[in-house]
Amino acid sequence: MNPWAKDFPILNQTMNGKRLVYLDNAATSQRPLQVIHAVDEFYRTQNANPHRGLYELSVQATQRYEGARSTIAKFIGAKKDCEVIFTRNASEALNLVAYSYGLTFLKKDDEIALPVSEHHSNLVPWQMVAKAKGAKLVYLYPDAEGHLPEKEINSKITEKTKLVAIAHVSNVLGSVYPVRKIADKAHSVGAVVVVDCAQSIPHMRVDVQELGADFMAFSGHKMMAPMGIGVLYGREELLNKMPPFLRGGEMIEYVHEQDATFAPLPEKFEAGTQNAGGAVGLEAAVRYLEGIGYERIHRTERELLNYALDGLAEIPHVTVYGGTKNRENRCGVISFNVDGVHPHDVASILDAGGVAIRAGHHCAQPMMEYLKINATCRASFYFYNTKDDVDVFLENLKKVRGWLGLGT
Ligand SMILES: Cc1ncc(COP(=O)(O)O)c(C=O)c1O
Repeated sequence: MNPWAKDFPILNQTMNGKRLVYLDNAATSQRPLQVIHAVDEFYRTQNANPHRGLYELSVQATQRYEGARSTIAKFIGAKKDCEVIFTRNASEALNLVAYSYGLTFLKKDDEIALPVSEHHSNLVPWQMVAKAKGAKLVYLYPDAEGHLPEKEINSKITEKTKLVAIAHVSNVLGSVYPVRKIADKAHSVGAVVVVDCAQSIPHMRVDVQELGADFMAFSGHKMMAPMGIGVLYGREELLNKMPPFLRGGEMIEYVHEQDATFAPLPEKFEAGTQNAGGAVGLEAAVRYLEGIGYERIHRTERELLNYALDGLAEIPHVTVYGGTKNRENRCGVISFNVDGVHPHDVASILDAGGVAIRAGHHCAQPMMEYLKINATCRASFYFYNTKDDVDVFLENLKKVRGWLGLGT
């Protein structure tokens, strides 16, 4: 029995006549009623344009928006609230760093080091910077277990490295990368560290000081908040010396015909009307997460991961990518393929059984090239999944080759 079922009504329905088994949490999580109600209440009672009105309702909206910023700052261990910039998602946060920091401070022949497994959102913006500035991308390659060997870290991060971009958790293999070790190495050569926590913060405590992150990005929608709200954390000293990313209302101090000066942090990076409802929803998601506790989330997901990996190992013709031996440094994300079957067909057959998984390149095409495959199937868990969900997933997976007339 799912102890959280009552909080997630979306999970209590059928798909294609079967109970919905939602295993695409790495793409987006579901939202509990507590988050839905917080957003609903904001729009019913406190909605106004934050920072723009002098009347009581706008003051209340501003307080809710800034209160959410403060909650997030504490949640991630930021030293000051102004180090938290609200964005649309992790992609926008990473683009902000690339356009504002990268284009301003990187120079010809500088190197940007990053694992080949990075999500396109933490890779394509760096390609843009490298092309514009004549800098070079240097890739770190994971081993067969999905981990980054010490040798890769020490040989690829050198005096030439000016920026290291790294995911805390890979969205393809679920590997937890040793961000602190990499950050220490990066800082020892004077490079800044950009950490993409889109896949970690829903599942484990992220403290920007402990990680050694100069910048950190995540999306609300993968941790039960609404879509359209994300966060960039940046060290105040760095954010202060960076130019604005987007320009317009709210981010200015004075505007004259030919020139403008800009507002202090965080407004400098928040042009235009902000997603106050999203920020309120993100705050509610943080409270919900903290109410359950990361320890319990971790324990539940670890059980599901082990149960699923053991089950997959018993199904013939299934290849699992990444670590099956060293499961400690791995989150609840499993990429796999079924011999002779395109991942899209696997996903469609599972869908007929009510099971939602992802199939494709997972916005990580350089990683697919490195693995010498075009695509994988990906099942990803959250704490509200159950062993029953894993059983339904495995039972349906066993039928795939048979459905297509292949030997089982
Ligand atoms: C590791 C990682 N980084 C960044 C992103 C981008 O997130 P968003 O699409 O919310 O910007 C994702 C989304 O899947 C991801 O898995």
